[in-house]
This record gives sequence, structure tokens and C-alpha cells, in this order.
Amino acid sequence: FMLFSGSSSPSLVDRMADHLGKSPGKVRIGRFKSGEVYVHYEESVRNAEVYLVQSLSHPVNDHLMELLIMVDAARRASARTINVVIPYFGYARQEKKDAPREPISAKVVADLLHTVGVNRVITLDLHAPAIQGFFNIPLDHLTALDLFTEYLVDKKISNPVVVSPDAGRVKTAEKLATYLDTPFAVMLKKRPSHNQASVTHIVGEVKERTPIIIEDIIDTGGTIVSVIDGLREKGAEEAYLCATHPVFSGNAVEKLDYPGIREVVITDSCPVEQPLPERIRLLSVAP
Ligand code: R5P
Repeated sequence: FMLFSGSSSPSLVDRMADHLGKSPGKVRIGRFKSGEVYVHYEESVRNAEVYLVQSLSHPVNDHLMELLIMVDAARRASARTINVVIPYFGYARQEKKDAPREPISAKVVADLLHTVGVNRVITLDLHAPAIQGFFNIPLDHLTALDLFTEYLVDKKISNPVVVSPDAGRVKTAEKLATYLDTPFAVMLKKRPSHNQASVTHIVGEVKERTPIIIEDIIDTGGTIVSVIDGLREKGAEEAYLCATHPVFSGNAVEKLDYPGIREVVITDSCPVEQPLPERIRLLSVAP
């Protein structure tokens, strides 16, 4: 098999290649003056099982288009199978209509991947696991939960409580609480507008406990700030926050320097600017 990186994921692919004991394949990805994408595989992919790694991180539309064109080029060059590894599946938060006349953008992404001829999708901690059903090809849905668990066990956190920041994360939080043998709490929130949240209820005991919040995405950091405020109001200690996808739009990294947050644990599913502040730990999903 051959492993190629799109322009969003070169460091992750280097780490993956190290684990696999092979070198990433050579592909030239460029832009015409007009902004259109150009792709050229600089070695033969004929009959190869091709793995293309591309996170749908910022700028998501460029990365998506690039991936589609990489798939097309590989298919036309007679690759045997085309497997796309999408560590962060952008548009996953638009997986259903919440209001009339809205799109289901995650389905559009799935349809585009089908159309260009993808044979398999490998992805990680989908915002909504039901997105698996948008595909009629095999999809491997991996999770970073084991990485977080290992990390947290070593921390030996006293009096912890695993917190699901919303109804969508309950199953994941419950699993983490079981692995760590701790109680868990669930927060309910409403969203006055995009990237804003306000906590309405907390079910479970958090007073004088150390919350371990399990999130899928930190985008602007707006949600997490409201979650922390909600927990502090109920008398919780400083929290650990685990989030698989550091989308980090705008000044999210600065926002995470917030009273009530002890540590933020993220993965390299999205590229992040280095060096990171000390309170942010980066775990690699390459293995
Ligand atoms: C939404 O339900 C997600 O799980 C995240 O809570 C949300 O997307 C994070 O976005 P932001 O950091 O912009 O609030």
C-alpha cells in the first residue's frame, strides 16, 4: 500500500509513516493563479492500495476540494483501491436539519467522496456517529478515547467526575467513566447562535469534584467557556478537558487560558500551531 498526505496533514502522516516503517508517497499539490487545485502523483500508483490522509480542518473547503482531486487523480492512474483517512471530518456538525430550509452538509461531503470513487473511509470521533450511514462503502470509525483514558489514568486525578458537555457526548462520557471507574454528569445546553452555548442543566454531582470534560471539537472555544462557567457555578474544581479535534478558529488557544481549566488534552487530528501553551497537551493519533 501507499500513503499520501494532503496539505492539511503532513506532520501526522510523517508520524503514521514512522509507525508503519515506510515513507510517505510523493505527490505534488499546487495551486494555479486562479486558486484552482493541481495534483500530480510523482510515482506510480498503478494497482496500489492508496491511502490518502487529509483532515478537513481550516481552510475546510480547500482541503475538501484538494482531497476530491487527489482521489480523482489516483483513480485515473489505476490505483486498485482508494482509502481516505479523514482524521477530522469537517461539516459533521451539519448532519441534520435543525430548522426548515437548511442543508445537510455532511451528506453533501459523503456524496462527493462517493462520486469521485472512494472505496473506504477511515475517520475519528465523528461529531455524530450516524454519519457512518451516509456512506454505502466501508467506514472505519476510530476513537481517541483509549489515548485519553491512558493519559488520565497516569494523572491519578483525585475525586474526579467525567462530564458530558451535552447530550451528544453521553455515550462517550459513560464509557470513559466506566474505564476510569468514576461517576459521571451530563450538561444540557442551548445554542443562542453559532459557536455560542449556555448551560441550562447539570445532571449529576460535580461539587468539589474535578471534572474531566470529554468533547469532540474545540472550535472557537465558546462552548467550553460556558461549560466551565456552569461547572464553577455548581462548585466544581478546576477541570481537565479532553477534545479530539482542535479546530481552533480565531483566538481559541488564548480563550483556553481560562480560570477553571487546569489542562486541555487534544490530538493531532487537526494541525495546530506550535509551540502550544504548557497547559495544552497534544497526543498523537498516528498509532
Ligand atoms: C457541538 O456540539 C460540539 O460538540 C462542540 O461543543 C462545538 O462544536 C465546539 O465549538 P466552539 O468551540 O466554537 O464552541
